[in-house]
Amino acid sequence: MEQASHDVLILGTGLAGLRAAVEICIRSRGQADVALVSKVQVMRSHSVCAEGGTGAVMRPEEGDSFELHAWDTVKGSDFLADQDVVDRFVEKSPDEIRLLEHWGVPWSRREDGRIMQRPFGGHSFPRACMAADKTGFFEMQGLYDNLQRYSNVKCYQECFATSLILNGGRFAGLALYDAPSGEFVVLRGRALLIASGGLGNLYGFTTYSQTVTGDGQAIAFRAGLPLEDLEFLQFHPTGLVPSGILMTEGCRGEGGYLRNNKGERFMERYAPKMMELAPRDIVSRAEMTELLEGRGFPGPDGLDYIHLDLTHLGAERINKRLPLIREVCMKFLGIDPITQPIPIRPVAHYSMGGIEADIDGRTRIENIWAAGEVACHSLHGANRLGCNSTAECLVWGGITGAEIAKYLANGAGFSEVPAALARDEESRLFHDLLQQSGEESPARIRRELRTLMDRHAGIYRNGASMREGLERIAELKRRFRKIGIQDRSRVYNSNLMQALETENMLDLAEALLTSAVAREESRGAHARTDFPKRDDEKFLGHTMAYYTGGKPRLEYKPVTITKWKPVERKY
Ligand code: FUM
Repeated sequence: MEQASHDVLILGTGLAGLRAAVEICIRSRGQADVALVSKVQVMRSHSVCAEGGTGAVMRPEEGDSFELHAWDTVKGSDFLADQDVVDRFVEKSPDEIRLLEHWGVPWSRREDGRIMQRPFGGHSFPRACMAADKTGFFEMQGLYDNLQRYSNVKCYQECFATSLILNGGRFAGLALYDAPSGEFVVLRGRALLIASGGLGNLYGFTTYSQTVTGDGQAIAFRAGLPLEDLEFLQFHPTGLVPSGILMTEGCRGEGGYLRNNKGERFMERYAPKMMELAPRDIVSRAEMTELLEGRGFPGPDGLDYIHLDLTHLGAERINKRLPLIREVCMKFLGIDPITQPIPIRPVAHYSMGGIEADIDGRTRIENIWAAGEVACHSLHGANRLGCNSTAECLVWGGITGAEIAKYLANGAGFSEVPAALARDEESRLFHDLLQQSGEESPARIRRELRTLMDRHAGIYRNGASMREGLERIAELKRRFRKIGIQDRSRVYNSNLMQALETENMLDLAEALLTSAVAREESRGAHARTDFPKRDDEKFLGHTMAYYTGGKPRLEYKPVTITKWKPVERKY
């Protein structure tokens, strides 16, 4: 076993993790010793896949305002967002855009030289600052480049975090499988930031990279931190069929249409004012209704689809504003969106829920923070608006970085890593898991789990189907105890990592569906055919799921409402 110590450990190297690292370096004048830990190489973090834009109020003089951005976000959330958190978010996001400007992000520009912003779903003002349709990539690049200025940042790349080690209710260390060396490593830290991203590979048809398996949520959950609002899983309206690759909402922001097999712009029937730019929960449900009622096109493997039509936008606009979309369509399907419609359908894209964290990103453990998609600050409630996610990563990367720097400056020390706990974890990995020789394959279990989630925890849900999903997850968990790992070597053992991921996914799927069954209403992305109405009397509250080793225990906590009482959402 190897050990190393750093002032702060940052688990996850996407936008939130890198932004926090930069903030800690700035505030500590490069003195804090920062460890970045990722199961991939830094610039392969899933944030590089973010396409359409980052939401911020940049033009008050043209009619936008914090109040309007906050209202759009709260209404979009189906009134489950904490309104104090939303206020803080909208006030801070413009500074993040300006910071990234200074750090070299090549924002797309208007004719007058100012940063271009395009319309996005559910926003009543064009608010998505963009670098063509590769926004996440350029933001990551800007942050990564910036970090190169600091010598006290060490990267642990391709290191898989297997558990949090606590001592006396405080974070002490992170247990890692270091794939390149094959060693078990314990990193000690005075503070930990979890910024490890989403959990979208719980689903078969998804926009996420294969690596996004909710590891941060799962190890936090098992360490006793509650998962909040996990039932709210966002389906993006435009996933390319059959791969699931994201066709950015920027396509519709630039003026693209959605059409059914009759050529109709069907959004007229569902959101006559905002049409294709209604919030994602509404557009995805509309598409699914069209498909279920036979107005889609037959697709491969049951993936019937709708058309995303950009053909009226013209070559110049597509080449300038949506070059990645065109390239992906040509490479993956051999179609050119300048002249041909794109086959799309709703696709698992984002988790509104995550590790409960307060407005400063702090969890219930005093030296653990969480930021980005892994966290639930209660910013998005039951449905996130497009372009509020990269903004959230930047805002709470900045906030948590500042909070951690303050915490370190106040002299917080290390906690001892209990030797027995570290030894037990090493033995669990290399003697128990790695030596298992059962009949069951983790890959098969994972595949079945993802199909099950598509079927039982999709856009439209009902109690009977979700309960069936839970029974099947219980069965998969039983089967997981009988897995075999074929590759017994220590170095770069992808079989071992996939088994660890599958174990994490099983726990999260169970927590998601348990939370979803208990919420007997429809709100935002959680649409129940057996409870089709929102029920503010009973369910205007956040679900908190706790790990028990068996069925997760649920509690609820109130929503913070400062200005806007819930009303019916109309678009
Ligand atoms: O459609 C998109 O470009 C995705 C943006 C987002 O999820 O915020």
